[in-house]
Amino acid sequence: MAEAKLIDLRSDTVTRPTPQMRAAMASAEVGDDVYGEDPSLNRLEQRAAEAMGKEAALFVPTGTMGNTIGIKIHTGHGDEVLCEAHSHVLDWEHSMMAWFAGCVARAVAAPGGILTWPAIAGALRQGGPNNAHTSLITLEDTHNMAGGTVYPQAAIDEICEEAHRRGLKVHIDGARIFNAATASGVPASRIARDADSVMFCLSKGLCAPVGSMLAGTGEAIARARIHRKRLGGGMRQAGVLAAAGLIALEQMTLRLAEDHANAKLLAEGVARLPCIDFDPSHVQTNIVIFDTLPLSVTTGQFSDALKDRGILANGVDHRRMRLVTHHDVTRADCEAAVEVIGESVSAFA
Ligand SMILES: Cc1ncc(COP(=O)(O)O)c(C=O)c1O
Repeated sequence: MAEAKLIDLRSDTVTRPTPQMRAAMASAEVGDDVYGEDPSLNRLEQRAAEAMGKEAALFVPTGTMGNTIGIKIHTGHGDEVLCEAHSHVLDWEHSMMAWFAGCVARAVAAPGGILTWPAIAGALRQGGPNNAHTSLITLEDTHNMAGGTVYPQAAIDEICEEAHRRGLKVHIDGARIFNAATASGVPASRIARDADSVMFCLSKGLCAPVGSMLAGTGEAIARARIHRKRLGGGMRQAGVLAAAGLIALEQMTLRLAEDHANAKLLAEGVARLPCIDFDPSHVQTNIVIFDTLPLSVTTGQFSDALKDRGILANGVDHRRMRLVTHHDVTRADCEAAVEVIGESVSAFA
C-alpha cells in the first residue's frame, strides 16, 4: 500500500530539484572549476553577478559558506560584526564568524528582525585601547526567524550610506533575497546595489539541490575564491550543479508569489483558530511563525501531533511554530494543513 503523502512545511530547504533541473544536470557541459574551466559554472557566476548588480560572483556549496566567506573578506581578526540578535549568521552557523574570521558578533535586537541605522549607530564600536572596532554590518533579507520579513529599501540604503561614510562594510545574507524582491517589487540588484557583498541561495525556495552564490566586487570575489578553497570548497566538475542553479536563478525566481499566497492562506487559517493570537498581516513572504503559548504545549509535542496527522512542521523555539511554503506544497496541501492545525489546536486547548 502506498504511504500517505506527508505535507512538509518544515522549511523551503526540503524542495527537490525539478524534472527540468535533473535533465539539465544530466546533460551539463562541465570542466575543472578549480582551473576556471567549467563553462556551466562560469555562466552561472556571470548570471548571478548580473542578477545582483555586482562585478563578480562565486558559487559556494551552502549559504553558510557564502556568509562565512562574505564576513571574512570584509573583516580582520578580532573585529566586531554587527548583526541582528536572531540572525542566521549568529544563531545557526556554528559561530563561523568567530571560528573562521576571528570576529565577535555585536547583536542588536530589532523589531521584525529589521535593523535601522539609528539602532545600529548606537551599537557601533570605534576601537581604542580597550575595545575592538566594528568593521562590518550584516543584514538578513528576508529575515528567517522573524517570519520572512522584508527590509524596506530605504532602510538598506540609509544603512549602506551611513556605514560607508564611516568606512564600514555591509554584507547582505540574502538567502531568500528573491522572496524579498517578489514581495517588495524591488529587483534583487536594486536591493543589494549599495551593499559590499550579498549571498543568496539557489537551493531553498528555488529548488536547486545544492548551492549558493556570493557576489561583490571583482577584487573581493577573487579573495573569496581563495577562502572557499581554504574551506575545502574548491569543486571540480560542479557544472552539474550549476545547470540546476541556472534554472533556479532564471526560472524559479519567477514563481515565488505562489508560495507567498500559500503562506498567506496558512496565516489567515491560523489566525482564525481559537486560542491563537496571530496577526496574518505580518506575513510578507513564505514563512509563518505563530505562538503556541496559550495552548500550554511544547512545540515538540505540537510537531508530533501534526506529524501524526500528516503534516511536518518544526518549532523555532519552545513556544513558536514555523510553517514554510515552497514549490513542493500546493494550495490544496496548505488548505489541508490549516484543517489539521485546527484539529491539533483543539486537542491541546
Ligand atoms: C537566512 C539564512 N541564511 C543562511 C542560511 C544558510 O544556508 P545553508 O543551509 O545552505 O547553509 C539559511 C538556511 O536556512 C538561512 O535561512
